[in-house]
Formats: sequence, C-alpha cells, structure tokens
Amino acid sequence: MLVLIKLILLVVSALVSFASSQDLSITYNGFRSANLSLDGIAEVTPNGLLKLTNATRQEKGHAFFPNPVSFKNPPNSSAFSFSTTFIFAIVSEDPILCGHGIAFVIAPTKGLPGALPSQYLGLFNGTNTGNDTNHVFAVELDTIQSKEFNDINDNHVGIDINGLNSKQAKPAGYYSNDNGIFQNLTLFSGKAMQVWVDYDGTAKHISVTLAPIRAGEPSKPLLSLTYDLSSVLHETMYIGFSSSTGSVLTFHYLLGWSFKMNGVAQGLDLSQLPKLPRVGHKKKSKALTIGLPIILIASLSIGISGVIYRVRIKKKFTEVLEEWEREFGPHRFKYKDLYIATKGFRDKGLLGRGGFGRVYHGVLPSSKLEVAVKRVSHESRQGMKQFVAEIVSIGRLRHRNLVPLLGYCRRKDELLLVYEYMPNGSLDRFLYQQPEYTLNWNQRFRVIRGVASGLFYLHEGWEQIVIHGDVKASNVLLDSELNGRLGDFGLARLYDHGTDPQTTHVVGTLGYLAPEHTRTGKATTRTDVYAFGAFLLEVVCGRRPIEPHSPTEDDILVDRVFSCWKKGQILEAADANMGLDYVKEEVELVMKLGLLCSQSEPTARPSMRQVVLYLDSALALPDLQSLGISATGLSFASQEGFSDFNLSYPSSMDKPFSHASSSAAESLLSGGR
Ligand SMILES: *[C@@H]1O[C@H](CO)[C@@H](O)[C@H](O)[C@H]1NC(C)=O
Ligand SMILES: *[C@@H]1O[C@H](CO)[C@@H](O)[C@H](O)[C@H]1NC(C)=O
Ligand SMILES: *[C@@H]1O[C@H](CO)[C@@H](O)[C@H](O)[C@H]1NC(C)=O
Ligand SMILES: *[C@@H]1O[C@H](CO)[C@@H](O)[C@H](O)[C@H]1NC(C)=O
Ligand SMILES: *[C@@H]1O[C@H](CO)[C@@H](O)[C@H](O)[C@H]1NC(C)=O
Ligand SMILES: *[C@@H]1O[C@H](CO)[C@@H](O)[C@H](O)[C@H]1NC(C)=O
Repeated sequence: MLVLIKLILLVVSALVSFASSQDLSITYNGFRSANLSLDGIAEVTPNGLLKLTNATRQEKGHAFFPNPVSFKNPPNSSAFSFSTTFIFAIVSEDPILCGHGIAFVIAPTKGLPGALPSQYLGLFNGTNTGNDTNHVFAVELDTIQSKEFNDINDNHVGIDINGLNSKQAKPAGYYSNDNGIFQNLTLFSGKAMQVWVDYDGTAKHISVTLAPIRAGEPSKPLLSLTYDLSSVLHETMYIGFSSSTGSVLTFHYLLGWSFKMNGVAQGLDLSQLPKLPRVGHKKKSKALTIGLPIILIASLSIGISGVIYRVRIKKKFTEVLEEWEREFGPHRFKYKDLYIATKGFRDKGLLGRGGFGRVYHGVLPSSKLEVAVKRVSHESRQGMKQFVAEIVSIGRLRHRNLVPLLGYCRRKDELLLVYEYMPNGSLDRFLYQQPEYTLNWNQRFRVIRGVASGLFYLHEGWEQIVIHGDVKASNVLLDSELNGRLGDFGLARLYDHGTDPQTTHVVGTLGYLAPEHTRTGKATTRTDVYAFGAFLLEVVCGRRPIEPHSPTEDDILVDRVFSCWKKGQILEAADANMGLDYVKEEVELVMKLGLLCSQSEPTARPSMRQVVLYLDSALALPDLQSLGISATGLSFASQEGFSDFNLSYPSSMDKPFSHASSSAAESLLSGGR
C-alpha cells in the first residue's frame, strides 16, 4: 500500500516537473476560472476581475500563477526568453491623489514574505531592497514619487531588478504608431491600459510597452534595456502581480493576462474581459436618516401603483433574445442599460441621423464608458442570426483607425449597435462647417493615412476580407487625438478570402459608388478603393464628390480635379480654407492618388496595400500622364444608372441608399450566402 502511494507520488511529481519544463503558455481573459494563488487583500470578483487591492489602507495584495515556472535549463545556463501582456486599471477614490501602483513580478517565492505595502509595492522591504540575493525581477507601474528610490515622477513605468531603485524608468506613455510622437498616459486614470513585457534571452534585452486599451501595441517600446537576467532568475520561479495601498483608497485591477515562455504571449480578447465597476463616490442619502419614516409610509401608499408601473417598465424594456444568441452573450447589451445610458434616447443626445437610423450619445451605467448607440430598424427576421454573427465577428476587429464596435442589442423591430464614442464627431463637419471647425493640412494628411491604414486592415489584415461598402467623410470619425477612424460597419459584408463576393443589393452613397458597383451590385475591395479615391479628393478639396441638386459638369469633383491637373495646376483645386501652410508634394500626391483610385476600370485602380505605400512614400506614384488617364476613363458614373437612384432618392447625398429596399438593414441581411 505504502509502496503504491509512493509510486503515485513519484509519478505525480514527475508529471509536474515535466509540465514545468515545457514552454509554459497561459492566457486569462478575465480570471473567473483562473486558479491563482492569492494573498493579502487580493481577490477575484464574481465577474472575473482580479482585484489586487480593496478599500483598505496600507495593505498589499499578491496574485501568482500557482505552479513554479522553469526559467532555465540546465540550472546554470542562460535564462529563457519570455513574453507577457496584461491589462490593468488603477482606480482612485481621490481625483488627484492615488495610492501606489501595480507590478508584474518574477520571484523565487509565491507570496514575497517580508515585503511591505505602500512605497514598497508589496515587493520588498526597507532592509532587502537593492540586495542581489532577492532574485526578483519586476516591472512597476508606480503612481507615487518615492524620493528614497529616486523615482522620476509620480506616474512612471520602471524595470526593477532586486530593488525599488529602477534600472530604467520613464514617465507613463507611449509612442504613437502613426507619427512616433510620445503620448502621455495617466496610470491612475481609472481607464484600462495594456502592458507588454518581453525578454529576449539571446540578446539579453528587456522591453516594456504601455498603451491605452484598444490602441494596439506600439511598435516602439517605452522602456528598452539590455540586461542579462540569467543571474537574477533561478531555474524555477513564480510569476504574478503585486500591488499595495497607502493612505489614499485605491483599487488595483487586472482584467486579463497572458504569458508565454520562449514565444510571444497570446493576445488578449478584449471582448471577453470583465467589466470594471462604475467609478464615482456613492453619496449617502440624507433621506436615510431624516426621511426614513416618511419614506416608509409613502412607499406603502405608492406600492400598488408601483406594481402597475413595474409591469409597464418591463414591457418598455422588452428585448428579443433567442437561444442561438446565447453564444454571443458578452456582446449583447441589455436594452435597459442602453436606455439608461442614453437617458431614454432623447433628442438632446442625438449625434446624427444616417440612412440606417439615428445615433445617440450615451454613458453606460456600469462602466461609465461613453458610447454611441445606433438604432437600426429591421423588419426582416430572416438572416438575423447571420447578421448578428457578422456583427459579433466585426466586433472582434481591432485597429486604431476603426471605431470599435462594442456590441449590440435586439428588440422587436430594431437592432441597436453600440460603438465607442468618438468625441470629435465626424470628419465631414470639419470639411463643411468651416471655419468653425477646420483641419490644417498636417491633420488632414494624418486622417487620410489613418483611414487608408484602417481600410487596408479590413481588406487584408484579418482572417476574412471585410468590405467596408460605404467609405466617405461622414463615416470617418475623429477620436480625441484627431485620428481618423472608419466607422459604420453596418454596411460591411464579410467574405472569406479567395471566394467571390456575391451579388447583393446596391447599398452605398451616391458619389462614392464605383460604376461597376451600380451595374453589377457587387461590392468589392475595388469598389472600396473607388470610394476611398472620392474620399481623398473630398478631404483635400473640402467639397463633396457631387454637389447635390446641380448635376452640371463643374459640380463633379473628380472632373474638376482632373481639369486642373490637365492644365498643370492641380493645386488650384485644393481647399482654400486649408491655408497655405502645406507640403505641396503631399497635396499633389493625395490628389493624383485620388484620380488613380477614381478610374472606371476596376483593375486600373491600386489596391489598398499600394495606396498605403504611396501615402508613406515607400512606393513612387506612377506617372498619370504615361498611364494615359483621360476624362472618359474617370467618367464619373453620373450617366450610368444613377438617374434612377436620383429619382427615387432625391436627397440621398449623405445617406446610404438601397437599390431594392427602403430598409437598408434588410438589404444587409438579404443576399444570403
Ligand atoms: C479587503 O479584502 C480583505 C481580504 O479579502 C477583507 O478581509 C477586507 O474586509 C476587505 N476590505 C474591504 C474594505 O472591503
Ligand atoms: C489550484 O492550484 C493549487 C496549487 O497548485 C492546487 O493545489 C489546486 O488543486 C488547484 N485547484 C484547482 C481547482 O485546479
Ligand atoms: C554548469 O554546471 C556544471 C556542473 O554544475 C558544470 O560542469 C558546467 O561547466 C556549468 N556550465 C556553465 C556554462 O557554467
Ligand atoms: C525583509 O524581507 C525579508 C525577506 O525577503 C525578511 O527576511 C526580513 O525579515 C524582512 N525585514 C523586515 C525588516 O521586515
Ligand atoms: C543581502 O542579504 C543577505 C542575506 O539575505 C545579507 O547577508 C547581506 O548582508 C545583504 N547585503 C546587503 C548589502 O545588505
Ligand atoms: C506630458 O507630461 C509631461 C510631464 O510629465 C509634460 O511636461 C508634457 O508637457 C506632457 N505632454 C503633453 C503632450 O501633455
């Protein structure tokens, strides 16, 4: 019997050591089912947030992966490469002050016994900090300047080796992928942010990168340090997080974490992450102490009417949820939440009105996230499953030049799409409400390049080809940093790579529709490029592709740009409101590219990949003269079948319209695959 137990123990320990010598790969999108080893005041909330600290002062919280992790083999060899990424948020009760930070840590023991809270971050104490016998590697996200450890400021990221005097530290922020400009970030803003830590065991190099959530990983890291961790890391170590509170009540959260030994950490699925609790202070109601008796009496008398009221409310908030939708759970919003978020879809919060329906501004009650809610009416139940699947699929698209789609909600005859709110509204406002709103050339060029990059991502950057279907200035939104982001994926249809896009109803906007699109009804990447060309000219010239209600020759933008180019004076067509402070070559490049994309012959148009290269000046634009571009080759499809649409949709300039159906949503759903 004893022998048998010993044998089993032997087998078990062999398994564990075998497992630990493998290239460990862990990914937690939320920690609900994670088996972490917690101590101090750390806990995992029911919705899967890892809450390292709660409202207790001068405390620490640790969360470690429970098993030891092999960092080298044999024991005296070099440490392995590793890569990790995590998403955190630091929420302070005080708007100005904050209590200490979070650290990713690799340590010889799980609990870091003897470590102290507050400025020691739960990592070290006053005696052992700086001692090489610690064998601790950490990346600190520190919100307090501790002069004793030579902290650079009260909002920094640092690489700590065996002590709190960081080997390297920088103010929190990131280098934008668009322009390389450094952007500040506030660690305790309460907003979720993502960190990437990579160690290259061969080059002995550590890099640390920080970015706002959904911005994607910046290509230039914040911290970059050559340091050999072989002498710091033992052959087996524990990996996890440490956090501490000081005098100001502060909550430290982790939303997701991924780690990989000898490889790249798997990306986190943002849509699966748990939601942060609502921020803000709960005001204690005076009524509780003063008015309690009154309330008791009053509530008795209104009790009956309350029941009736509740029945009504229930009806008001009814939504349609079918069994098949359960798999899309996390993307599904409660109608009630959206109703509260938009304060009952009141007109005051109306952001815009498109062909698909109205868009409202809202603030989600739980997360306080600002959103734009689009109400799309749908009569057709058919294809709804397909459509919602597409929406969920599209919701997974992440690119810094796309407006993030957060989810949806479905009611009897309408669909509600929830997008991240873009504070600066749509680009057309900056083009057509000048001089009240205006963008200089640098800003316009940045928007153009951003939109090109977003559209390129839709076409080639994902597992499926996504056709946008309605590229135009009013579908480009500007975020807080005036980055252009393509919105309105309501029109996008997904195609598997390599398959032929099927015929659908024509949905799009007059002036941006390629001639072959109106003929065949097929939206393709080439028709997107055509629309992008119209968009380019629109942004440079500050004019719509066709001025409504006056279909004379001169009102067709592409013709105008073409004739200016023909005269050798292409810059004449540029928007005068842009000022004279622009780079002539860039303006010319964009206009010529606009003409190139506007060619009637689909195969003559460049691909979005080429467009991006032209805009980056990584590829020289072909000479238009030698291409023999002619006015007829650009012939704007004004004669070809457009009159029909003009007749049935006389004022459809800014609205997407549908050939066969007045319900655009329906046309989206039909043409089943
Ligand atoms: C913080 O968490 C600890 C451990 O989970 C618990 O004992 C303590 O009561 C919590 N404090 C507050 C203020 O919630
Ligand atoms: C969690 O991890 C600990 C430590 O490795 C282990 O003892 C325990 O059985 C694990 N529990 C589950 C549910 O996996
Ligand atoms: C590793 O240790 C073994 C014995 O412990 C020794 O023989 C070997 O030379 C060491 N290798 C290195 C690279 O130090
Ligand atoms: C500091 O931490 C070490 C463990 O790393 C512990 O042995 C020591 O007692 C601690 N010292 C103090 C003063 O708490
Ligand atoms: C580092 O720690 C070890 C034991 O943990 C101790 O013997 C040594 O004196 C410490 N070194 C310094 C510089 O404090
Ligand atoms: C970023 O923060 C630093 C101080 O930490 C400040 O000097 C600088 O002006 C800030 N930059 C921007 C663009 O806000």
